[in-house]
Amino acid sequence: MTPTPVNPGDTFDSIAEAFDATRARPWSFVTDWLEGMGPLEGPVVDVGCGNGRHLAVAVQRGMRGIGVDLSVRLLAIARQRVGRDTDLFIGDARDLPIATDAAGAVLAVAVIHHIQEAEGRKDAVSEVRRVLAPGGEAVVSVWALDDPDVALGAHARPMEGGDGADMLVPWRAPGGPTVDRYLRVISPGELADLLVGGGLEVVRSWDAGANHVALVHAP
Ligand SMILES: C[S@@+](CC[C@H](N)C(=O)[O-])C[C@H]1O[C@@H](n2cnc3c(N)ncnc32)[C@H](O)[C@@H]1O
Repeated sequence: MTPTPVNPGDTFDSIAEAFDATRARPWSFVTDWLEGMGPLEGPVVDVGCGNGRHLAVAVQRGMRGIGVDLSVRLLAIARQRVGRDTDLFIGDARDLPIATDAAGAVLAVAVIHHIQEAEGRKDAVSEVRRVLAPGGEAVVSVWALDDPDVALGAHARPMEGGDGADMLVPWRAPGGPTVDRYLRVISPGELADLLVGGGLEVVRSWDAGANHVALVHAP
C-alpha cells in the first residue's frame, strides 16, 4: 500500500515556534556562499525558506530576497527576520510562484528531502532551474540520513508502506506533542543525479555537518 502523502506545511505549522527556537543561526555553508557572491541581477530566492534565517543574511548583505514556503506560521516568523520589504510567498517548491529566469541565485536548503513523491522531487529541481537566470548559482542541501550515525541520532525510522528510503523523523519539543516529519533518504550520488536530471550543472558537492550539499550552476 502506498503511504498517504504527508503535507509538510501542516507538519511545520504544528512545530513552527519550537523549530524556530532551534534554528535561529544560519548554517555556515550558506553564509560563506552568500558572502562570496558578487552583485546579482535578480533576487536570492530561498525555496523552503522556513523561519527566514538564511534569507535574512542575504537581505543584511543588501541583496533582494524572496522566500517561498508551505508553512504559514514559519513565514510569519520569517517576516520578523527579513523585514517588510522582502517578498514572502506561500508556495510549493514543485510549482514556484516565481517568473522564469528571475532569480539571481537560489537556495534550497533542507527542503527537497521533505517531498514524498519522486516526481515531486524532480519537479522541485526543475523549478530551481527554471527560475534561475542563466549563469546563476544555487545551493541545494539534504539531510545526510544515508549515514547510519546521522539516522540514529535523528531517531529516523522507515515509514510503513514506504520503500525503505521513506522515513519518519520525530520532532520532540519539550512539553509538546511528538510530531513526525517525512524525510526521504537521498545520498550524494542521488542528489547529483537529481540535479543533473533537472538541467543543472554540479560545480561542487561536499558534506557540511549532517548535510549533503551541492553548489550548482544554471547553464
Ligand atoms: C527543515 S526546514 C528548512 C528551512 C530552511 N530552509 C532552513 O534551512 O532553515 C524545511 C522547510 O521546507 C518547507 N517545505 C517542505 N516542503 C515544501 C514544499 N514542497 N514547498 C515549499 N516548502 C516546503 C517546510 O515548511 C520548512 O519550512
